[in-house]
Amino acid sequence: MIDFKEIIAKSIKEVLENQNNENLNQSQISLNDLKGYIEKPNNKENGDYAFPTFRLAKSLKKSPQIIANDIKETIKIENDKIEKMEVVGGYLNFFVNKKLLTKEVLKEINLKQEKYGESEEGKGKNIIVEYSSPNIAKEFHIGHLRTTLIGSALYNIYKYLGYNTIGINHLGDYGTQFGKMIEGYKRWGDEYNIEENPIEELTKIYIRINDLCKQDEKVLEQCRENFKKLEDGDEYCTKLWEKFRALSLKEFNKTYDLLGVKFDSLKGEAFYADKTKEVIDLLEKQGKLIESEGAKIVDLSEKGMPPCIICKSNGSSIYATRDLAAILYRARTYDFDKCIYVVAYEQNLYFKQIFEVAKYLGLDKKYTDGLTHVAYGMTRLATGRMSTREGNVIKVNELLNEAIKKVLDIINEKNPSLEEKEENAKKIGIGAVVFSNLCTTNIKDQIFDWNTVLNFNGETGPYIQYIYVRTKSVLEKAGKTPKLENVDLNLLNDEASQEVIKNLYEFNQTLQSVVEKNEPSILARYLIELAKSFSNFYNENKIICDDKELQEARVFLTYATGIVLKTGAKLLGIEMPDKM
Ligand code: ARG
Repeated sequence: MIDFKEIIAKSIKEVLENQNNENLNQSQISLNDLKGYIEKPNNKENGDYAFPTFRLAKSLKKSPQIIANDIKETIKIENDKIEKMEVVGGYLNFFVNKKLLTKEVLKEINLKQEKYGESEEGKGKNIIVEYSSPNIAKEFHIGHLRTTLIGSALYNIYKYLGYNTIGINHLGDYGTQFGKMIEGYKRWGDEYNIEENPIEELTKIYIRINDLCKQDEKVLEQCRENFKKLEDGDEYCTKLWEKFRALSLKEFNKTYDLLGVKFDSLKGEAFYADKTKEVIDLLEKQGKLIESEGAKIVDLSEKGMPPCIICKSNGSSIYATRDLAAILYRARTYDFDKCIYVVAYEQNLYFKQIFEVAKYLGLDKKYTDGLTHVAYGMTRLATGRMSTREGNVIKVNELLNEAIKKVLDIINEKNPSLEEKEENAKKIGIGAVVFSNLCTTNIKDQIFDWNTVLNFNGETGPYIQYIYVRTKSVLEKAGKTPKLENVDLNLLNDEASQEVIKNLYEFNQTLQSVVEKNEPSILARYLIELAKSFSNFYNENKIICDDKELQEARVFLTYATGIVLKTGAKLLGIEMPDKM
C-alpha cells in the first residue's frame, strides 16, 4: 500500500542532497531518520503530516521557517499524491491526496480482508516472548494476568508482522519451597483434597509446614533434605513434585483456556536446574565469581548495582542462575534476535543484574543486546468484595468468571432475547478484562474497577465490541455488501468519512509502533480512536439512505471498518460478538 511518509521523506532527501551543503553531511540523515522526523499533527488544519525543520537549522545556517519555505519551493512531489503543502513556523505541512488515500486503503482492505495490516517486515528474525510464568502450588494472581495478556498480545503482533515468534511460559516450578511442600504432604497429605482444589489446599499445607519449621529446626532440616533429594532425582520426591506441577497446570490451563492464550514452549525453572553448572563454570573461568560468606556472587558494584548471587552456600542453584542457564539455552535453541521478558517492574533491578551477568557467559553480543525486560505496573482493585478476600489474593479465574456473570446479568436486564447469550457474555466479559489490562501503558499502575471496565460507553473493550456489532447490523440492514469496483469512492470525501479512512490507513503503522516500543496499549488506543471515528461517521451520515450510490460507498466503509476492528481486537486477544 502507498506509504505517504516514505514518499515525503524521499522527496525531502532529494532536496537536501541537491543543496550541496558541506555542513549537511548527507550520510548523517538517512531516509529512515527523515521518516522518523515526520510527525502527525494533532490539529487537522496542519495537514496529515508535518516535517519539522529545526534539526536542520544549524547545519544549513538558516532559520527553520526559511528552510521550510525553501523545501516547499524546490520539492518535487506529485500532486496526485500530495494535494497541498503549507509552511507554518518551522514546519512544512503536507496534505495528502484524499481520493488516492481512500482508494488505496479500501482496495487494500478489500484484497487482504482479515489479513489487512499483516506484513513480512520481521521475516528471518527470531523473537522470544516470555510471559505469564506463574508459580506452581501458588495462586495465579492478578499480576500474572497482566503479563499473560501483554505477552500474548505482543506475541500475536510480532507474528502478524512476520517475525518468527516463540512464546514461552517460564513456569516457577523449582526452588527450596518444594522441599517443604513435600514434607507437608508426607505428613498430612490425606487431610487435604488437593485433586479438587490444588492451589488452595497446597497453599494451606505450605503455611502449616512453614509454621512447624519455625518451631522445630529438625523439620526444617528434613525439608532441606527433601529438596536435596529432589535435586538428585529421588523417586518419591520427584513423583510428588510432578503431581503438584500437573495439578497446578491443570488449574492454570483453565485460565489460559478462558483467555484463549497459548504458548509454544512450557519450560519451567526446573528444566534449567541441571544446566546451571555450565553457568557457574563459565563465570568461574572468566574470573567473575567471588566467594562471599560461603556463597558465590558476581560483583556488580562497578555498574552501580548490588552483587548477583549465583550459588548459595549449600551449593544449590537459585532463581538467577536458572535464568542465566535459560539465556544460554535460548540463544542456542532459538538463535534469538530479541528475548523479551514480560515481568512486573518489581523485578527491574533483578533483570538489570542478570542481563549484566549474561555478558560474562561468552555469548555473542547479538544475544546480550537482544535481552529486553518489558516491565509492567501493578493492578489494584477498587474497593469491593474481591479485594478483601483471603489475604488480598485475587483469584484470576474467579475474576474472569465474575466478569462473564456480570455481563450476563446486564444482557438479561437489557436484551433478554439476545441469541447465544452465554457465548456472547463470555466474549464481552473476557474482552472487557483483557482490554482494561492493555489500554494503559505497560509501566503504569492500574486500578481495576468493574464500573469502568464494563462501561459500554467508556473507552473499553465492550465499547469497541459494541461499535463492531453496529457495523454488522448496518451491513445486515443494507442487505448485500457492494463490490468495491462498483463503489464511487469520491462520495466519501466528507470529514467524518475521511477521519475513518485515515485511521484505517494507520493500522499497520500502529502495529509497527507496538513492536518498536513493546507496547500493546498503542493498539488498544488505536482501536478506541477507530471506533470513535466510526461512531462519529455513523452519527453524521445517514448510511442507509435514498441515494443508493452514496449508500453503497458508506456501506463499504462500514464493512472495511468492521474488518479492521475485528482484526485489531483479535491481536489483543479479544473476540468479537456478532450481536450485543
Ligand atoms: N515466576 C516468577 C513470578 O511469578 C516470574 C518469572 C519471570 N521470568 C523469569 N525469567 N524470571 O514472579
